[in-house]
Amino acid sequence: MLHESHLSFFRQLLGDAYVLTSPNDLEAYGRDWTRVHTPNPSVAVLPASTADVAAIVKYCNRENLAIVPSGGRTGLAAGAVATNGEVVLSLTRMSKIESVDTIGMTMRVEAGVTTQQAQEAAKEVGLFFPLDLAAKGSCHIGGNIATNAGGVKFIRFGGMREQVLGLEVVLPDGEILDLNSGLRKNNTGYDLRQLFIGSEGTLGIVTRATIRLTAPPRNVQVSVMAVREFADIPKILGVCNRASVQLTAFEFFTREAHEIVLQHALGARSPFAEMSPFYVLLEAEEGPNGAQVMEPLLEEIFGDELITDAVIASSSAQAKELWGLRENITESIAKHGHVRKNDISLAINQLTDFIADLEPIVHAAPKDMQLVIFGHLGDGNLHINYVGPKTQDFAAFQTRARVVELQIFELLGRYKGSISAEHGIGLLKTKDLHFSRSPAEIELMRKIKGLLDPKGLFNPGKIFPG
Ligand code: FAD
Ligand code: MLT
Ligand code: ZN
Repeated sequence: MLHESHLSFFRQLLGDAYVLTSPNDLEAYGRDWTRVHTPNPSVAVLPASTADVAAIVKYCNRENLAIVPSGGRTGLAAGAVATNGEVVLSLTRMSKIESVDTIGMTMRVEAGVTTQQAQEAAKEVGLFFPLDLAAKGSCHIGGNIATNAGGVKFIRFGGMREQVLGLEVVLPDGEILDLNSGLRKNNTGYDLRQLFIGSEGTLGIVTRATIRLTAPPRNVQVSVMAVREFADIPKILGVCNRASVQLTAFEFFTREAHEIVLQHALGARSPFAEMSPFYVLLEAEEGPNGAQVMEPLLEEIFGDELITDAVIASSSAQAKELWGLRENITESIAKHGHVRKNDISLAINQLTDFIADLEPIVHAAPKDMQLVIFGHLGDGNLHINYVGPKTQDFAAFQTRARVVELQIFELLGRYKGSISAEHGIGLLKTKDLHFSRSPAEIELMRKIKGLLDPKGLFNPGKIFPG
């Protein structure tokens, strides 16, 4: 329970302007991109430095105040949602790019730097920060680390875990840890940095990071292909792999996803005269000495009768337009209806069987509920979105979608897949953790949480089933 004395402490430390209590601010800072829970924090505090974060955390620890760490609030698992009078600690003011090392190819940033700012700063010095997702303009590097974000370039560069060389974190007792100092190689005992990546704000608050940069990919070429059968999509990936093409993205979406984008995204146009059941978006680097890779690749894929049509972007504007067909799916679906989201993953060689087994579940789903599927197919990551008409009661829609979701999670369990490939567990999937983690694993995770946060004050209710 927050008292006036607590607010006085925060105001003295940060200044009145950075201690937010108005209903509008509490509503905004108490939620992420999900709209399932009612936000109800007591206060949002906006520290300007690691020292501020440590002081707030020490104080909250002493006063037994729960904290919800908050980044760009684009999360899709209700990880940054505060429903229970918590203190929201937003990293939004800690947004400095502190240094760029063009020789070691690293960048040191504060946690509140957005993904796009990091990308742009790398570009300015002729380098490349590879994490890429449609929320890049808003999401923070700290949030990317806390969720171990995946994104559309995972197939080539990996996710956020692969980009983090060093981390500064504030522990639940206020201690500041500097982990791995930006080293590329370091085999001195346990790599504690890894524990905080993907921990969804339950173990520590990320305040700084040293991230890995790379040389920019050579000119990339973008193609969208129309595909008749899902089973042909992994085969297309196989052709790309055997041709030694350097893929930078291998995404897919269904006709339903495509139609929703055409309906809601400003200026979206289908590249083909006729609709197709499935589409693949392929991005690949040009070959050595500027060699075209896309045309010969498509010829082979056509020759194998794996696609019915294809278009190659002939300008960067057209490449952007084609990417829009994939990247605008999330926002378009949100405009289209009520949405419940899954982000599952399976071994790539099991995708076709899984989709075949999914068919009867899709057919048995309520007729007014669409199952819209898209995702990072090259990583075995499918986004299944349950979409219902907005005229329906939201709670009733969620209950009906949950019935179908449980059937899909049961099926996924048989494939030993994951119920969350990239968005995390947050508040949304705590009941489903057991589908992907054994009791022994969950128990060990609880012990680690108990060791670092014995009072359970960092992001309570997240990840673990109650
Ligand atoms: P928030 O939503 O603010 O927080 C997410 C979690 O991290 C919460 O548990 C929070 O407590 C914790 N947290 C935040 N900052 C810190 C910190 N500094 N220290 C400790 N914990 C912290 N995700 C993907 O993986 N791949 C995608 O392709 C992708 N595309 C998206 C597209 C759209 C349009 C949208 C809306 C979302 C997408 N996401 C995607 C989800 C989301 O953008 C990512 O999960 C992102 O990494 C969240 O970052 P954030 O700063 O917004 O975090
Ligand atoms: C994506 O791949 O577009 C994101 O993960 C967002 C989503 O699942 O809607
Ligand atoms: Zn995704």
